[in-house]
Amino acid sequence: MSDGNTGGEMLDRVLTLEIARVTEKAAVAAARLRGRGDEKAADQAAVDAMRSELNQLAIDGVIVIGEGERDEAPMLYIGESVGTKAGPKVDIALDPLEGTTVCAKNLPNSLAVIAMAVRGSLLNAPDVYMEKIAVGPGYPDGIVNLALSPEENLTALARAKGVNITEITACILDRPRHAQLIETVRAAGAAIRLIGDGDVAGVIHTTDSEETGIDIYMGIGGAPEGVLAAAALRCTGGQMQGRLQLNTNEKRARAEKMGISDPYRIYTAEEMASGDVIFAATGVTDGNLLDGVRFYRDRVTTHTLVMRSRSRTIREMRAQHYDRAKFTA
Ligand code: FBP
Repeated sequence: MSDGNTGGEMLDRVLTLEIARVTEKAAVAAARLRGRGDEKAADQAAVDAMRSELNQLAIDGVIVIGEGERDEAPMLYIGESVGTKAGPKVDIALDPLEGTTVCAKNLPNSLAVIAMAVRGSLLNAPDVYMEKIAVGPGYPDGIVNLALSPEENLTALARAKGVNITEITACILDRPRHAQLIETVRAAGAAIRLIGDGDVAGVIHTTDSEETGIDIYMGIGGAPEGVLAAAALRCTGGQMQGRLQLNTNEKRARAEKMGISDPYRIYTAEEMASGDVIFAATGVTDGNLLDGVRFYRDRVTTHTLVMRSRSRTIREMRAQHYDRAKFTA
């Protein structure tokens, strides 16, 4: 496959493998602090490891989704430049530890996550909430729509899947703000998989519903996680919409500074992550999607998903790291 720019394509291809190292390093650093009840320490370890690995990559990267705005995050803040500069100009969205609480409790589904795309291709979203809806591949375009009610979306999905609505399972974050949504989904006849945390994994689970049992993701989670999930869906196929929850003047002003003029806009996955996107996630704790890091006497093992939108390649990488020393802080 050629895009008329062989050098660029080769570089992208190399990057697809290179970014696995970035999430591997972050995942191992966080995994050392699994189950210690210290979210901050686990997150910081992942941030430090991800940043140091990113800075060795031959890219001219700018963080558009990171640990927070410059004044609140000392590292991997929005706008920070990363990489050696000797490479393509890219936007980066990252979450060194997605699911800080689940990692601190050693529960399933915490991940180290990153997405990269050509400069200007990722939505610069403020760190606010986002309403999300997502389904996997194989459905007609526009099958789900945030402008419609949950019942309408579930009915359309069941019809397109050729099943009764009782055969549909929705994944929803277990939060008090979702009480009404949960009631509505159950009243419509669908089942719910309630998750404690980690809606990037929640969205990705829709892309393999036969394996995961999840047909649709619904509800409100972090906007940064929304952009990361959109980047993943661009690689796996599937449809997603997101609407920022800009419910105060302060949030609307922050969004406006980032170039968002319509606070009610509904974004598709393509509008949140356009062009050629690469995505990687490494499991920190065991989950449905990925196994967590394992520490053996002579090695460390990691399990990583690496995907690229242009080639629609989904690679699962299981690595055995015999040089344990390179993973010590
Ligand atoms: P953290 O890794 O920042 O703890 O995020 C975990 C998470 O569950 C995300 O997956 C989700 O988008 C967000 O928190 C939901 O936010 P809240 O916990 O405030 O409901």
